[in-house]
Amino acid sequence: MRFETMLVHAGGHVDEETGALAPPIHLSTTFERDVEGGPSRGFSYVRDGNPTQARLEEALAAIDEGAASLAFASGMAAGAALLQALPHGTHVVLPDDCYYGFRALAEESFAKWGLTSAVVAMEDLDAVRAAMRGDANVLWAESPSNPLMKIVDLAALAELAHARGARLVVDGTFATPALQRPLALGADVVLHSTTKYLGGHSDVQGGALVFAKHDALYAVTERVRELVGGVASPFNAWLILRGLRTLAARMRVHSENAAAVAEFLAAQPRVEAVFYPGLASHPRHDVARKQMSAFGGMLSFLVRGGRSEALAVAAKTRLFTRATSLGGVESLIEHRASSEGPASRTPQNLLRVSVGLEHPQDLVDDLRNALS
Ligand SMILES: Cc1ncc(COP(=O)(O)O)c(C=O)c1O
Repeated sequence: MRFETMLVHAGGHVDEETGALAPPIHLSTTFERDVEGGPSRGFSYVRDGNPTQARLEEALAAIDEGAASLAFASGMAAGAALLQALPHGTHVVLPDDCYYGFRALAEESFAKWGLTSAVVAMEDLDAVRAAMRGDANVLWAESPSNPLMKIVDLAALAELAHARGARLVVDGTFATPALQRPLALGADVVLHSTTKYLGGHSDVQGGALVFAKHDALYAVTERVRELVGGVASPFNAWLILRGLRTLAARMRVHSENAAAVAEFLAAQPRVEAVFYPGLASHPRHDVARKQMSAFGGMLSFLVRGGRSEALAVAAKTRLFTRATSLGGVESLIEHRASSEGPASRTPQNLLRVSVGLEHPQDLVDDLRNALS
């Protein structure tokens, strides 16, 4: 079955009881047990699992070509559960540009969880090799990265990791499975903040992990989720499942619109640099072409000058709303350093853009006005 078809149908079997095509939302927190005390129909308590979440997990595993999937209450809950499932002493190699929440976790929580970490520019495979330590390593990659849109070679990282008995985890939030399939490139686990493109409408928070194998790491992560409770609620699981149905179509338009915006910005004298993997000028455009089928709806750019010049541009847009988050149908613009706070390493003149599904000419006109 082709990917678009799978997106429409995965986890979407007709409801046996009623014949309903739209999946029912099972809000029940508890499920009848059999006379022996066991779960009579596979479910017992909502924190452990529920039928709506099970449909979402079935769909996520299928579309990312994985063996198993776990749905969480947020992308951070997903990542944290995976990290808490790692054996004490595991060394996590993080990229120098990644979602700031994971950098903060490394600084504030890894020691408590018995983990060590190093930060490297993951484009440099020798630097990655040198950053690995002992025999329990995890490479944590993010491609494209947030907010600098860096691209790392996922197949090369998987090979490097496996040669050292390490695992490769890929945060694929920006690309989504519609544009990039990290497990097919050799990764062991892929993470998504489903709050973003998979939900797709800025109205649901969620996270997911998809595992290449139904292995011990999957089992321990599931146990962490069960005990710590960062599980997706039935209603949120339903909204994300619904978002998946249109993912391929949305990502096509997000990518076309972002390409138009990136090309426009690249020609503007007030713009110092544009970071979009679809531009031939992107330093890793060749790698992006190799591992992505299109380049997505996210980009960032540097405004000539500094913080105040960048804030002034964001203050003048009318269609692009100044807001955190990404992946919804509406276009957003964000002064990322302000959102990340005082510890941010993001350039003060950087604006991050989530390009929505509006007409691309309206988006370009809005930015032209903001830059004038
Ligand atoms: C690349 C990336 N990974 C993970 C997360 C965290 O996801 P959530 O906000 O759903 O916890 C985000 C959030 O912006 C993100 O951009």
